[in-house]
Amino acid sequence: MSNQPTAIDNNTALVNVEVDTSYENDSSYGDELSSYSESLTSSVLEYRHENGRRYHGFRDGSYLLPNDEQENDRLDMLHELFLQLLNRRLYLSPIGKPQRVIDLGTGTGIWAIDFADEHPQAEVIGCDLSPTQPTLVPPNVKFLIDDIEAEWTYEKNPFDFIHARNLVVSIRDFGRLIKQCYRSVKPGGWVEFQDWDGYAYSEDGSLAGTNLQRYYDEVYGAFEKAGYETRPGPKLEGWFKDAGFVNIHVRKFQVPYGVWPKDPHFKKIGTWMLAAIEAGFEAGALAALTRYKEWMKDEVIALASRARADGRKRSVHMIGDFYVVYGQRPAN
Ligand SMILES: C[S@@+](CC[C@H](N)C(=O)[O-])C[C@H]1O[C@@H](n2cnc3c(N)ncnc32)[C@H](O)[C@@H]1O
Repeated sequence: MSNQPTAIDNNTALVNVEVDTSYENDSSYGDELSSYSESLTSSVLEYRHENGRRYHGFRDGSYLLPNDEQENDRLDMLHELFLQLLNRRLYLSPIGKPQRVIDLGTGTGIWAIDFADEHPQAEVIGCDLSPTQPTLVPPNVKFLIDDIEAEWTYEKNPFDFIHARNLVVSIRDFGRLIKQCYRSVKPGGWVEFQDWDGYAYSEDGSLAGTNLQRYYDEVYGAFEKAGYETRPGPKLEGWFKDAGFVNIHVRKFQVPYGVWPKDPHFKKIGTWMLAAIEAGFEAGALAALTRYKEWMKDEVIALASRARADGRKRSVHMIGDFYVVYGQRPAN
């Protein structure tokens, strides 16, 4: 379809992403890194402070990553990464000119704000547990504090387009969430989810036995113990089919972590990815491991630090799979 990116067809393996061996050591790596809501109530602002990080207050405990400035910077970095992956497209669905749009788990609201700028005709809602979005926003965007895993009441006022991105380890029941989307999108409307297979890998075995591998095994183990979905990406298509969507499209993007790829496009993507995960090693692990595996804060920080060191090694060629899946509610 004409609205699909052309730069990468990641249904093919990343074997054409050669390792850049022109660097003698890792020290140059640093140079390559570039550097409210109507629904607000006091309980929403009663944040939880724990192990030096700040967490959401509304539905306390239901999301295990922080909502502080450091985390918001990380989410905005990831936004840039996703734009690069999709040739600077915010979405791939052929939506035309939608009137009513919602972004589920909007985070800093950066996707919703960009979308509202691109679509001045649309009324855009960004929904999240945390009221951490900016207040100076386009007039056609507003933010709501709500739990997207609770029962929805949008059927009466359905959307033309529903979008959700990077909700891995946020959501317990994606299948139910996608069924709620089906009920709340207009006939003929589109739903798009963009998400990870949380388990990264290497094609040459270089990830095996590293602290990076151990980090992901430990941390995702804790999220799974807590009931969260860690591998939504490859399951999205099945959930879309189960919900009743038609015209389902699936794109898979392989995302290298680090500056090791030879190809400049993948090197750039890998560098952004490394910057984002470096900023997130502690954020991703602290609550999950201390609340669900009884780790001490210092143990988590030590593991995060060892994982960070392995992530900087040019000899470790970690790759993650990112999926964009979109489908249409039948028109009749
Ligand atoms: C990793 S962030 C992704 C943010 C955004 N979608 C993006 O791509 O930039 C996940 C977001 O989902 C929100 N979230 C998690 N569980 C939620 C729930 N049950 N209801 C609403 N928001 C939720 C979190 O507060 C967080 O802002």
